[in-house]
Amino acid sequence: MKILEAKNINKSFHDPITIQVLKEVTFSIEQGEFISVIGKSGCGKSTLLYILSTMDTDYEGDLIIDGVLMRNKKEAELARVRNEKIGFVFQFHYLLNEFSVLRNVMLPGIKLGKYSDQEVEHKAMEKLKILGIESEAKKKPNQLSGGQKQRVAIARALINDPLIIMADEPLVILTKKTANWSLTFSRSYLMSIISRCS
Ligand SMILES: Nc1ncnc2c1ncn2[C@@H]1O[C@H](COP(=O)(O)OP(=O)(O)O)[C@@H](O)[C@H]1O
Ligand SMILES: [Mg+2]
Repeated sequence: MKILEAKNINKSFHDPITIQVLKEVTFSIEQGEFISVIGKSGCGKSTLLYILSTMDTDYEGDLIIDGVLMRNKKEAELARVRNEKIGFVFQFHYLLNEFSVLRNVMLPGIKLGKYSDQEVEHKAMEKLKILGIESEAKKKPNQLSGGQKQRVAIARALINDPLIIMADEPLVILTKKTANWSLTFSRSYLMSIISRCS
C-alpha cells in the first residue's frame, strides 16, 4: 500500500529572481519502506520535505498522503494530518525549554486528543525508554546534551505512532560517535515502527 505519493511536484522561489528548486518530482513510498533523499547542500532536500510534510503548500503538483489528496485542504485539516500521520524530526529540534522533556514529548499527543493525558504520559515514557533517555524526563531540554535533545525530538516525533516519519538531517548536530550509534539505532527502530504499521 502506498502511504505517500508525489506527482509532478514543482517548486520555485521568487527572491527576487525566480529559481526553480524542484522540477517534476514524482515518486511514491510504500508502507514499511525506508527512503533517504541524498544531494548536495542547497539542492532542495529541505524544500521537498517541507512540501511532503504539508508544511509548505505553495507548490505545483499533487501530494497524496494515505490515499488522500492534500490539495485545497484548509490549514486546520493539514495540521490534523501532520499531527496524526506524520512524525517530523527537524534539523534543529525546536524543543520548548519552558517545559520538561516529558512534556515536550507529550505535546503532540495532547494536541491530538485521542488519549487521556495519563495515557499520553505513559506512551511518552515508553518512547523515552526506547531511546534510552527516560532518566532525563523531568529535566528541561536546555539541561541536555545535543545528542540527548535529538533523541527527545525523535521520541516526540513517535508519540502519535505516525504512519510516516520524516527527518531532515536529524543527525548532523550529533558527535560522530553518537551519530553512528543513533543512525543504526534510529534506522532499525524507525524501520520496525514503520513495518509494525504494515
Ligand atoms: N525561503 C526561501 N527563499 C528563497 N530561496 C530559498 C528559500 N528556501 C530555500 N531556498 C533556496 O532553495 C534551494 C534549496 O534549499 P534547501 O531545500 O534548503 O536545500 P537543502 O536542504 O538540499 O540543502 C537553495 O538554493 C536555497 O537557497
Ligand atoms: Mg536542508
